[in-house]
Amino acid sequence: MVATALALEPYAGLDDAACDARIRAAREALGERLVILGHHYQRDEVFRHADYSGDSLKLSRQAAASAAEYIVFCGVHFMAEVADILSRPDQVAILPDLVAGCSMADMADLERVEAAWAALGEVLDPETSVTPVTYINSSADLKAFCGRHGGIVCTSTNARHVLEWAFGQREKVLFFPDQHLGRNTGDAMGIPLEEMVVWDPDQPGGGLSREAVQRARIILWKGFCSVHQMFRPEHIDAFRARHPEGLVISHPEASLEVCRKSDYVGSTEYIIRTVAESPPGTRWLVGTELNLVNRLHERFRGEGKQVHFMAPTVCMCSTMFRIDPQHLCWTLENLVEGRVVNRIQVPPPVADQARTALDRMLEVSP
Ligand code: 13P
Ligand code: SF4
Repeated sequence: MVATALALEPYAGLDDAACDARIRAAREALGERLVILGHHYQRDEVFRHADYSGDSLKLSRQAAASAAEYIVFCGVHFMAEVADILSRPDQVAILPDLVAGCSMADMADLERVEAAWAALGEVLDPETSVTPVTYINSSADLKAFCGRHGGIVCTSTNARHVLEWAFGQREKVLFFPDQHLGRNTGDAMGIPLEEMVVWDPDQPGGGLSREAVQRARIILWKGFCSVHQMFRPEHIDAFRARHPEGLVISHPEASLEVCRKSDYVGSTEYIIRTVAESPPGTRWLVGTELNLVNRLHERFRGEGKQVHFMAPTVCMCSTMFRIDPQHLCWTLENLVEGRVVNRIQVPPPVADQARTALDRMLEVSP
């Protein structure tokens, strides 16, 4: 007889304190059979239960290295997919709420990327002149696309190393889904803006002339992060006017204008490290998701560091926020009962090709 899973509904009525105690008890019961991975954008009530926290690169390495039977990923869907792809077949990757997607990842899909590849084929031979590069914020089938077309995955940490590798293979790069990470990385490498063109998947031929495609070094998919697009150069100007001694640090999903005006640009892990290593008394303006910035503020105010959020409005990642203590509690108590809920399983042929692209990334990463 197949045991039925504990229902989710009753958990919605639990308050956070009750969940906290029950999550701790479930973790205790599961012991080393369980590892909880938590992305830096998770809310505190969930983040505190993570065995390991990190940016996308660090967490994918953690998933690959973990011996645990259950990998519960407090993050978003593509992260749990990567955990499934990089872990052993007998390990189980779980996402506590299946609705926790990434709106940027959803901006590119296999059908439209294949259509773009075919359209590029009318101008040049993409198999010999274009390396496809997908940001890790993408579905597994796009990573598989890169795997079978000589391409690679990147994260915000290793984008430059990955692009250098990609240009070592072929003269051009098709970069998806985040135009900003692609453009900021190309800009840091000295690639002129005129040689980075935007591919609009809703326009025939991407909305580009043959000449524009032929001239381009990087073809940027027209995707963006709805959180990081809220940060504007004028926020930095206003901060610098008030605090000329202050420092500015941004995530590379922010626009080129914001990144060019920032003192430092890097992944969430890099942002934490840079603020941690700054001298006491430093004042920071940080352009990334609010949960992380609030945590930095709390962690470093004892050292006299001031950490400010870049935008005047609240910008949280609403999909990361879907992972709440109630869903985590429900997931873990089901595991204690021997039932797996919300398993993320990438079909083997897709997983194999996606792993090829991920392994290339892990090899070239610093
Ligand atoms: P990091 O890999 O820098 O943590 O970024 C992930 C992400 O989704 C940022 O929006
Ligand atoms: Fe996706 Fe943006 Fe959320 Fe990161 S912050 S997971 S890119 S929607």
